[in-house]
Amino acid sequence: MKIISRELERFEKFLFSSTKTTVPFIGNVSRYVMEAGGKRIRPALVILSSKICGYSGKRAIAYAAVIELIHTATLLHDDVLDNAKLRRGRPSVNHLWGNEPCVLIGDFFYSKAVEIMGKDGDKELIRIVSRATTEVAKGEILEILKTGDLTVDEREYFEIIGSKTAALFSAACEIGAVLANKERKTREALKKFGENIGLAFQLTDDALDYISTDRSLGKKVGTDLKEKKVTLPLIKALKAASLQEKRMVEEIFEKKRVTSQDFYKVKDFIERKGGFKYTYEVAKRFIEEGKDLLVSISPSPHKNTLLKLSDDILTRKS
Ligand code: FPP
Ligand code: MG
Repeated sequence: MKIISRELERFEKFLFSSTKTTVPFIGNVSRYVMEAGGKRIRPALVILSSKICGYSGKRAIAYAAVIELIHTATLLHDDVLDNAKLRRGRPSVNHLWGNEPCVLIGDFFYSKAVEIMGKDGDKELIRIVSRATTEVAKGEILEILKTGDLTVDEREYFEIIGSKTAALFSAACEIGAVLANKERKTREALKKFGENIGLAFQLTDDALDYISTDRSLGKKVGTDLKEKKVTLPLIKALKAASLQEKRMVEEIFEKKRVTSQDFYKVKDFIERKGGFKYTYEVAKRFIEEGKDLLVSISPSPHKNTLLKLSDDILTRKS
């Protein structure tokens, strides 16, 4: 993303300075989290969306930080819920410092995001971001309620990922159009585009949770099965399963502790039933549909970068 490298640099500076406090512990943990990087896909979306709509001002940097702070806050909380040990290729904050500091640093990041928005003072943007954040929390609650439930179907799955992941992607893209003062049609197009690529992102996340490796993913593979989360690859496979295969999955879901042998059994079953292939096909459909939504936006190098970023979601390894 060379084309926005200057903006991303300014974003990194803004992000780091926004977590400065008088309590050294907060600074240390924040630095640990932020230095690990991450893909910075959401801030790139804020910047690129605003650019393709004709806005190049400073506020895009501040909102890129708002979205990244909220995203990082949700990951810190998520790692506590998932008992995660690894994040962004490093031991996770909960693993190193324990659950309490991890949750509170997450709260700190979230509050910081609200503070930045308050300072900017745009009611419409506050509405967009706060709605998306509520949606993320709702999605996560829904996911917990459905944990261990093998009857979860595609509709329920999409309701969960639409909220927990796509809502923030959607807000990131809509912000760009709002900053540029674009009319409703463009705003809606970017909002829906963000939703589409957010869904595709979570679909590939859920496939990679089975088919990738810890090293390339920077987090532990197999977490979904370990935590008994039913995702699309498994939903699809179960639909085509024999009674015996269903029983095999049920037995694993009844166990307190999932072994690596169990993991490979389920992974192999999903593979045989075409669950991963299907998940990628659906993700590809969302990406194509998303890109089509941007037809009325004039061609530009920034637009090309945004389209390329969308395609890269399908081939990402981490
Ligand atoms: C990652 O999912 C988690 C999310 C997309 C959302 C997490 C949200 C919360 C915990 C609610 C907290 C809300 C606020 C406002 C702080 P995943 O577990 O599928 O992804 P992973 O494989 O990267 O862990
Ligand atoms: Mg997780």
